Amino acid sequence: MSNTKNIVTIDGPSGVGKSTVSRKVAGALGYTYIDTGAMYRAVGLFLDRLGVDVGKPEDLSRCLGDLRLDLRPPVEELGDVCVLLNDEDISDIIRTPEAAMVASRISAIPIVREKLTEMQRLLGVRGNVVAEGRDIGTVVFPAARHKFFLDAEPGERARRRVAQLRERGVEVDEGEVLAMTLERDQNDTEREISPLRQAEDALRIDSTNITIEEVVTKILQKISEKTG
Ligand code: DC
Repeated sequence: MSNTKNIVTIDGPSGVGKSTVSRKVAGALGYTYIDTGAMYRAVGLFLDRLGVDVGKPEDLSRCLGDLRLDLRPPVEELGDVCVLLNDEDISDIIRTPEAAMVASRISAIPIVREKLTEMQRLLGVRGNVVAEGRDIGTVVFPAARHKFFLDAEPGERARRRVAQLRERGVEVDEGEVLAMTLERDQNDTEREISPLRQAEDALRIDSTNITIEEVVTKILQKISEKTG
């Protein structure tokens, strides 16, 4: 069983700033950061490349048996985690809006979720982690001591995503990113298995009108109040 005392979960919809917030919180606490979205993106790329018929559970199960995922700390401080898929560095190619859409689609498949949930629990087995995603506080680590749910208006989330992608040199149209954000919200909240929702014992933080730094401060304050 994980040391749930030292597990921080940060869930929320796409573009809400979870990654930046999680990395900063993990850095401040000296914890390991687990980016579960990167894991879904990697599996999306893996299945897409193989052209697997996701409607056939036996094919899917066989392919997933060949999947080796390795998550390594970012090269730069506050950079993205390094993701190796069967030894190939796919860190950059999974960061496009298209890769995110594929991830959102394959994340509704039960066997994919089972496999990744198991891997995520193993990564958290020793505690001292900050894990971000959609179902971390509800399904992956339901007994975690510190749970947060970040939210922000879709327009603001799309603007942040555009700024983040442009910083990486990826040119995108804001209207298209907003449409993709809304579609992913719908996929992620309406799927049958582990849909995106706030855990009852998670603290909700709306970041529409506050900065990432303010969100980080709020989270660290709450953790410190609880741990004394
Ligand atoms: O956090 P992200 O944008 O990198 O996630 C990409 C997709 O992966 C997201 O649209 C839904 C899926 N996902 C999920 O279903 N559960 C998670 N814990 C993390 C991501």
